[in-house]
Amino acid sequence: MPTRLSLAERTIAHTGRDEMVAELADTIETALIAAIVAKGSASFAVSGGSTPKPLYQALAGRDLDWSKVTVILVDERWVDPGEAGSNESFVRDSLMRDKAAAARFIGLKTSTASPQEAAQALNADLPADLFPLDVAVLGMGADGHTASWFPGADGLDAALEASAPPLAAITAKRSAVTGDHLLRMTLTLPVLEGARLSLLMLTGSEKQRTLDVARADGAVRDMPVRALLRSGAANLQVHWAL
Ligand code: 6PG
Repeated sequence: MPTRLSLAERTIAHTGRDEMVAELADTIETALIAAIVAKGSASFAVSGGSTPKPLYQALAGRDLDWSKVTVILVDERWVDPGEAGSNESFVRDSLMRDKAAAARFIGLKTSTASPQEAAQALNADLPADLFPLDVAVLGMGADGHTASWFPGADGLDAALEASAPPLAAITAKRSAVTGDHLLRMTLTLPVLEGARLSLLMLTGSEKQRTLDVARADGAVRDMPVRALLRSGAANLQVHWAL
């Protein structure tokens, strides 16, 4: 069990990274099984980044009916699978192996030159039973982005609108966090705040400081994770370990 020492409101501080991974794997397994029992299927949105990798590796061996689970990316860089930076490749390698290899996967990269050209067709092709998401795993960058909601990005305002479709195209401003990968496809605010369970997973003291700044007053456009933190999403949990 984690020690519930609050770093800030609604943050669950874990005693260590292994303990956080074990608890989140249990929580996600339970939520996916409950969804399958209730409605015959489960939807699971997953982020890239180094933080969730051990969680995905732990989940891959969990004994649940993965054939009834649909995995969708929270966001994707506009690179093909197999290329550097592909979140699809990362998720296929870390999560969708062992028992979880049976899950259905929805990738977000298409053959169009830009995500802007792909958004309408990708939205139209999403399965009707995907939403509300049963579980979403989110990360946060040192710049206060989550998903591909990057500070000051083109497309950010549209992605955060209450009426946004599930997926939106983003062109990020170049930064140390984005690297060369400025073109992105991302899930939007209504989909992520509507998830039955959203887990924002953070490690290290830098992310702790970033979270504190994000929780203080300031513009959403400067730290877009604020859109989620301020959305009042009752099902958002923030998990942190040093
Ligand atoms: C990206 C990354 C990014 C990542 C966060 C947290 O698409 O640029 O996937 O969104 O999730 O920056 O990354 P770490 O977990 O590695 O700190």
